[in-house]
Amino acid sequence: MTDTLDIKITKTQHSRLAETDFNTLPFGKVFSDHMFVADYIDGEWKNFEILPYGPILMSPAISALHYGQSFFEGIKAYKHADGKVSIFRPDKNAIRFNKSAERLCMPTLPEEVFVQSIAALVDIDREWIPGKANHALYIRPFMFATDPFLGVNPSATYKFVVIVGPVGPYFSKPLRVKIETHYTRAAEGGMGFAKAAGNYGSSMLPARKAAEEGFDQLIWTDAKEHKYIEEMGAANAMFLLDGTLITAEAKDTILDGVTRDTVIALAKSWGIPVEERKVSVAELIEGAKNGKLTDAFGAGTAATIASVASISFEGEEYFLSDPQTREFSKKVLSTLDDIKYGRAEDTNGWNYIV
Ligand code: PLP
Ligand code: COI
Repeated sequence: MTDTLDIKITKTQHSRLAETDFNTLPFGKVFSDHMFVADYIDGEWKNFEILPYGPILMSPAISALHYGQSFFEGIKAYKHADGKVSIFRPDKNAIRFNKSAERLCMPTLPEEVFVQSIAALVDIDREWIPGKANHALYIRPFMFATDPFLGVNPSATYKFVVIVGPVGPYFSKPLRVKIETHYTRAAEGGMGFAKAAGNYGSSMLPARKAAEEGFDQLIWTDAKEHKYIEEMGAANAMFLLDGTLITAEAKDTILDGVTRDTVIALAKSWGIPVEERKVSVAELIEGAKNGKLTDAFGAGTAATIASVASISFEGEEYFLSDPQTREFSKKVLSTLDDIKYGRAEDTNGWNYIV
């Protein structure tokens, strides 16, 4: 597949593979030997290149730094027992990548260029994919504005970069989550649906305050009333309430997650009713109290299926059932893993084989 994209390849003379400790892989701190870089100049994408991973020299005036024309994606590649390598649903990320680009007044990238550049990099650094359970190669494609210009205008030049690195689980234990009712992640008409860098920057203060109170993640609520669940900091929030899978509808304040979409598809295939709709804080708290909220988890690429241990609202902490006893999320996680690691047939065509 990669031969249609003309990529200049310069391999590293000093692989860091042998000195990398694959037993200790904190998320996002270990990077592979190479990266992919392309430039948007004079209205077109050019200079496709894979080169040794390392610093990129830039002007301190680039508008990404000053005005936040910057966004990213998150994808994973998996190693199968027979040595095959697959990337999970990169075509979905390609579509979302361009939605983010359009919202931030940045150039789109042809979907096949997005997928092929990622596949080419994963192929070159395939030895970096951990073989262990719950481990994968995390793929971080991103784009940022590079004009050295302080006027508040869309840049005319951009860089598209892909970096990858081996990762273990993002969360190490079931999450104590807090329903945020003061700060807002996204409002209607804003850019919540985009994977804009600024969405994450603005979440850090509320997340730190919650961490200081002992919470692992926030659940954001709607900007108008703080009555309806939106999503978590790094995952979509999904619940099994009275036997129905419920999650906030994918609208302009929510990141339309690939994992969320996958979980919905699996649930439907198992005959479980699914509702994408407004999910009120009140019905969740009621469900936590009367036992009808039997499952709650975050769904995301980095997070995978992250169990929610307890939900806190207005100073009250509601503990849910022991995550080990939750049938639905355990089945989702094991089914997903079986597909991603090539142990089960990929009937939906979700694995892009490299
Ligand atoms: N919501 C937010 C804010 C995220 O950062 C993520 C992670 O990518 C998700 C949801 C889940 O999206 P996906 O499943 O595509 O990774
Ligand atoms: C991902 O799951 O890929 C994310 O982007 C989450 C992240 C911000 C760590």
